[in-house]
Amino acid sequence: MESVATVPRVQHDPVSDSRFLRACRREPVDATPIWLMRQAGRYMPAYRALRERYGILDLIKQPELAREVTLQPINAFDLDAAIIFADILPPLEGMGLALEFVRGEGPLIHNPVRTAADIEQLRTPSPEEALPFTLEAIRLTRAELDPRGIPVVGFSGAPFTLACYAVEGGASRHQATVKSLMMSEPAAWDKLMTKLSTVAGNYLLAQARAGAQALQLFDSWCGELSPADYANYVLPYTRRTIEIAKAGGVPIILFGVGTGGLLELMATARPDVIGVDWRICLGTAFDRLGPEFAVQGNLDPIALLATWEATRERAQTVLDQADGRLGHIFNLGHGILPQTPVDQVRRLVEFVHETTRA
Ligand code: CP3
Repeated sequence: MESVATVPRVQHDPVSDSRFLRACRREPVDATPIWLMRQAGRYMPAYRALRERYGILDLIKQPELAREVTLQPINAFDLDAAIIFADILPPLEGMGLALEFVRGEGPLIHNPVRTAADIEQLRTPSPEEALPFTLEAIRLTRAELDPRGIPVVGFSGAPFTLACYAVEGGASRHQATVKSLMMSEPAAWDKLMTKLSTVAGNYLLAQARAGAQALQLFDSWCGELSPADYANYVLPYTRRTIEIAKAGGVPIILFGVGTGGLLELMATARPDVIGVDWRICLGTAFDRLGPEFAVQGNLDPIALLATWEATRERAQTVLDQADGRLGHIFNLGHGILPQTPVDQVRRLVEFVHETTRA
């Protein structure tokens, strides 16, 4: 079994000694690293300005623009990692699904997957063929951030969360269509999840090869599953995705929402870091996962909408829960909200660094 200690270190690379990558490897740090999920986005005036001229898919598919958006939060705050600007859904386009982001409504798939025949039709193109723009955006961003010592995080949707959008065709509260397909048609489900894990795994690997120094797998919807269904119908494919991505030799973060019932199962997929939301105490997550895993999280993003006093109190609780353990990466428990005041983000980043500085 691979453990975090076997993640190879790139020689003579100052970024490799960054707080964030050291924490991923559970090495001592000079201060707790912090980055925020969805740190590039609508809460930033600079992002909103670009979005007046470009659609989100334009920003993603033009590598210079994707680099610019990736760097916006890095230039505004003292963040410890950059996440490449992209989305979890473009890989579905390469598989043959028609994706659109509808203003004010979120993503829409015009030809959702509903039958075994639909699943049969899905393609699994290489990431170099289907997603060259994000690989190029990573190369461009690395060139900017290497001299500044800041690592670049690549990412993909995990197979189950990708299946949720592919089958539901957009946002869904209960994931009723995808879950009933999973429960009713195990053979078709296996085909779908095998294809999705191939696409996600190869995409993560290609991002590492393009220069991403860590990879995050977003399984935003896996908390909707019972532990038994997660273990039988999702975990094998998450594990396969991570196995493929491991050839990239960089730390892998597995993130999910509402995963208090699933943590030990998620750990068997052998990521290096597990990301948790605020519905579980960070200390409990550390204790349950044990010394082989770093833990990322877990401030409630709503805390950033409250008074600074209330934000600070909750950020302090996260740090108290981490209790100086090796391998804590400060983050939110889910993506930052568009209505977040920029000043709150600046203060949070300063607070985490100042409070934890050795
Ligand atoms: O974190 C970053 O800064 C990198 C960029 C990033 C985006 N999406 C850009 C984006 C990342 C990591 C994501 C992940 C993502 N996308 C997830 C997993 C994380 C999570 O939130 O659970 C999911 C489920 C998606 C799918 C998605 N993309 C939805 C449901 C929506 C619409 C809802 C919303 O927040 O607007 C998007 C659009 C999207 N992706 C935006 C951004 C900045 C906002 C769109 C805009 O600019 O209009």
